[in-house]
Amino acid sequence: MPLRSILAGCGGYLPERVVTNDELSRTIDTSDEWIRERTGIRQRHFAAKHETAAFMGTAAARVALADAGATAADVDAIILATSTPDQAFPATALRVQAELGVSRGFGFDLSAACAGFIYGLSVADGMIRAGQVRGVLVIGSEVYSRILNWQDRGTCVLFGDGAGAVFLRASSGEDDDRRGVLSTHIHAQGTLGDILYVDGAVGQPDKPGHLVMNGREVFRHAVTRLAEAVEEALAANGLKHGDIDWLVPHQANSRIIQAMGKKLGLPPERVVMTVDRHANTSAASVPLALAEARGDGRIVPGDLVLLEALGGGLTWGSALVRL
Ligand code: COA
Repeated sequence: MPLRSILAGCGGYLPERVVTNDELSRTIDTSDEWIRERTGIRQRHFAAKHETAAFMGTAAARVALADAGATAADVDAIILATSTPDQAFPATALRVQAELGVSRGFGFDLSAACAGFIYGLSVADGMIRAGQVRGVLVIGSEVYSRILNWQDRGTCVLFGDGAGAVFLRASSGEDDDRRGVLSTHIHAQGTLGDILYVDGAVGQPDKPGHLVMNGREVFRHAVTRLAEAVEEALAANGLKHGDIDWLVPHQANSRIIQAMGKKLGLPPERVVMTVDRHANTSAASVPLALAEARGDGRIVPGDLVLLEALGGGLTWGSALVRL
């Protein structure tokens, strides 16, 4: 039997502090009504000083390992997707490795903005299929509150902080032959880098960097690219729209999420929605939504789950997983 990646456990972490739209509207020229109508967002979590990408990623990873019945000794690799790392180096993944007490293997950070978790899943799945590793933590962890431009009401109301993680385990067992990561597809178009970006970094003098977005352009590309990604995943597996049990999409905007659910012919209760409470947590949004729907018993073992995301780059992709 060829090797495949079983999604053995998932977990999430959200900062304690909840910030409602009304709270934002006390200091920013916006309103609860505007934010909810355009995006579906009601509130978001903002990190305290100690809640860095490594801190939150470690917390989410611990829950994912416990959910999988695994320990630090089972972890061969840690792939951490983030645009808001603790430091330029060492990689945030290695801060997590140290905190978890993992004493072997390797880890690295991955930069693909909001599609980072799907990219991470794709890389981890490839390594497992190649027999290079047997246990991989894939983490998305973000503190976007540190890179928002508070003078730009068109972007600062859209994002939140948090982390999500999954633990992938190699399997060649016949019992598992229907389970696991069935496919991943990842894409990028660098020529669209100027519609969503951070205008600085540690490598640029005097420019720590803030998020800049052309919302309308991103919206337009999101609808077409994500629809293509969904069709690509189904075609690669010889599946039809009706075969999917759950859509766990990137949580940026409820209108985009609803459009994708409709396209797949899924009733709203089969589309996992957290954007109302989490806002857009970038690379953390998909694993956080997955952890929530697994944790509350909506998604159960055997379910066929389609994950998709799009972010700055432009980057986008999908993963089809049988839990
Ligand atoms: N509160 C109140 N008014 C606001 C506002 C806010 N927070 N932000 C913008 N506005 C105003 C604008 O100033 C503009 O006013 P004007 O018509 O007087 O100039 C008006 O609302 C419309 O702004 P616009 O930016 O054109 O709104 P929109 O309908 O495109 O909605 C988004 C904005 C961001 C909600 C929408 O474009 C979107 O969701 N895009 C996709 C974003 C996304 O998914 N990003 C993440 C990808 S990873």
